[in-house]
Amino acid sequence: MQLEHRRIVIGITGGIAAYKCPQLIRLLIKQGADVWAAMTENAEKLVSKATIEALTHHPVADDIFAAPEDIGHIGLVSKADLYLIAPATANTIAKLAAGIADNMVTAAALSAPCRTVIAPAMNSRMYRHPATQANLETLKERGVIIIPPADGDLACGETGPGRMREPEEIAAYITALLSHTALPFAENTLLPQPEAPRELTAQKLLPKANGAGLRVLITAGPTEEPIDPVRIITNRSSGRMGFALAQAARERGAEVALVAGPVHLQTPAGVSRISVKTAQDMYDAVKAKLDSVDIVVGCAAVSDYRLAYVYDQKLTKEEHGDSLTLTLIKNEDIISMVGHSSPRPFTVGFAAETHDGDKHAREKLQRKNLDLIVLNDVSQSGIGFNSDENAVTVYDRDGKVTEIGRAPKSAVAASLMNIIFDAARAAKGTA
Ligand SMILES: Cc1cc2nc3c(=O)[nH]c(=O)nc-3n(C[C@H](O)[C@H](O)[C@H](O)COP(=O)(O)O)c2cc1C
Repeated sequence: MQLEHRRIVIGITGGIAAYKCPQLIRLLIKQGADVWAAMTENAEKLVSKATIEALTHHPVADDIFAAPEDIGHIGLVSKADLYLIAPATANTIAKLAAGIADNMVTAAALSAPCRTVIAPAMNSRMYRHPATQANLETLKERGVIIIPPADGDLACGETGPGRMREPEEIAAYITALLSHTALPFAENTLLPQPEAPRELTAQKLLPKANGAGLRVLITAGPTEEPIDPVRIITNRSSGRMGFALAQAARERGAEVALVAGPVHLQTPAGVSRISVKTAQDMYDAVKAKLDSVDIVVGCAAVSDYRLAYVYDQKLTKEEHGDSLTLTLIKNEDIISMVGHSSPRPFTVGFAAETHDGDKHAREKLQRKNLDLIVLNDVSQSGIGFNSDENAVTVYDRDGKVTEIGRAPKSAVAASLMNIIFDAARAAKGTA
């Protein structure tokens, strides 16, 4: 639900691709968006107003003078997070470039206080026409985001550029834009380059994103302690919870560094990954970044011990016979080092416990000087280590306990990052 609490206004104009709007609206609503629609008179000849009203659960705005006392064309977009015109006809694009406001769609565009995104759709000769290209250039210069049409079969029977992007692609683009994940079609020159993401995120696109402007370091996965050149001591951590946290943090507008132990998971888009193997490597990587982060979340299952002596040749049965004793020594506790550092980032630890979880979590919160600790009961099957789902309990320094019930790790990560960002902001006094 990456578009939760977002209001998106869609302006539908008289292009044949208007038939794709019901699907586009459904996809945006599925992501949690509150969608409102405006339609031109010609759009209503191509897709039914009743369908759009049934899907959005709101009346369609199509008449500037319908309720003059409400000044509808201003009210419609005044609280929007984004104004999307899809499909955008050549005619409407020309009107937008000229600043004409003769219907609900164009008048709303002039008064929109939010970002405007348009998805042009038309015959390829209309699209290539110098007038259309010049109008698009004008809009681009004014900061309108253009989702370039695809090359392909057109409704008129011709082939070429002008085909509106599929609803799935547009919904993915809007979701990425509003949640600040990597933008699809980024290499296309008509689209804004994401070179100033933090400013865009913090000031224009994501005023409601609780992670915007924050720098987060997350550790994830297991560590590996070598015994000899071919053997290691490790644990069952899959890294999925930490990676889900990194993705959730990124989706909330934060700058995210992920220090990951040896796992074969794909790095979430827009997250910078530092791959490590041993607990000592992880410790060094975290320490090196401490001065440049606001929040550290220690989700990795770090080996508590390493071998006192790593054999440089493979151990053999011939040499060691029926029993072999390995001496282990304690590793540095990474999250405790973070909790006791100065200046100190907002520090969140994880406690993976098989018994007495509540007692251990509270004790670790104190001893490691954490702001929050997340208890993971790894004795329960189906949650925690190497599972798709998790259920956790969050403890804070004031004794507040928050339960996050069993859910896919992505959903648990989303709830956790909301708690972490809100608590970190409150601690900084910027809530
Ligand atoms: C069946 C049909 C399909 C059309 N498809 C498009 C189109 O895809 N793109 C476009 O720019 N114009 C298209 N037009 C022409 C527009 O409807 C026309 O330019 C109209 O003035 C647009 O009005 P509006 O921008 O206010 O909706 C189409 C017209 C018809 C009859």
